[in-house]
Amino acid sequence: LPHLLTLEHLPRPRLVALLDRAQRFADGADDRAALAGMAVCTLFFEPSTRTRLSFQLAAQRLGADVLNFDASSSSTSKGETARDTLKTIEAMGVRGFIVRHKDDGAVAALAAAADPGTALINAGDGRSAHPTQGLLDMLTLRQAKGDDFARLKVAIVGDVKHSRVARSDLHALRTLGAGDIRVCGPASLLPDDATLDGCTVTADLDAALDGVDAVMMLRLQRERMAEGLVASLDDYHRDYGLSSARLRRAARDAVVLHPGPMNRGIEITDDVADGPQSLILKQVANGVAARMAVLEALLAR
Ligand code: CP
Repeated sequence: LPHLLTLEHLPRPRLVALLDRAQRFADGADDRAALAGMAVCTLFFEPSTRTRLSFQLAAQRLGADVLNFDASSSSTSKGETARDTLKTIEAMGVRGFIVRHKDDGAVAALAAAADPGTALINAGDGRSAHPTQGLLDMLTLRQAKGDDFARLKVAIVGDVKHSRVARSDLHALRTLGAGDIRVCGPASLLPDDATLDGCTVTADLDAALDGVDAVMMLRLQRERMAEGLVASLDDYHRDYGLSSARLRRAARDAVVLHPGPMNRGIEITDDVADGPQSLILKQVANGVAARMAVLEALLAR
């Protein structure tokens, strides 16, 4: 792979190999020689906490030098384009870029402008894709529920329409053969394209949760939302918020995931987010391992 832009159409053996390698990193494997002498840059045109810092740590654990580019304090504020920014940093000898952008397709467009031998990793573009989040979510599910995804019943709940995480999770779940994928949210927050093909779609959260092994909650993305898509935050919480009472509809050993950042009290209550079934901080930990696997696969010589 020259770049990692999406999990869509990533062959199953490649996906499983990345998960297997990520698991070894999660178990403590370290390879500081893999990227020794190489420089990578986190090129973020949108805010981030988890993705940027875990990529930084992952690259450092593989021996790379890491440059952090922050759009708000960069020459983009003087009008420099994203493409010129990439080419400028590339001219310094940087060969790996971890890129986040608000526009769908922006990372693919930058990848097309990169020199041969430069690798771009999509760290989230618009609503399209967040492939390393999809990887770390699958790693977390696999650790909790085993690798027989055909037996897995999973519910993805909330603002699917604006969620690049949901799209990458759906791509990966389908590739791994998940047997029962349910998607739940208000009609105004569900996509009307092929995103939900093969899923059971419902606006009834209780029905979506019935007997599931895993609940993947999504952040209500108010920054990407036109006014009026949800009636009110109170109504949204009542209808689509995951509380411990609601979670009792899922299997007794069901696990709860959320990519973060959370809107506590809106899509998820504190007792669920911080409760025994929550894997939210496990997801964060797995993010470092999953990103080590991706960086190694794309950049190690
Ligand atoms: N899950 C995720 O992408 O979080 P950040 O926006 O903090 O990177």
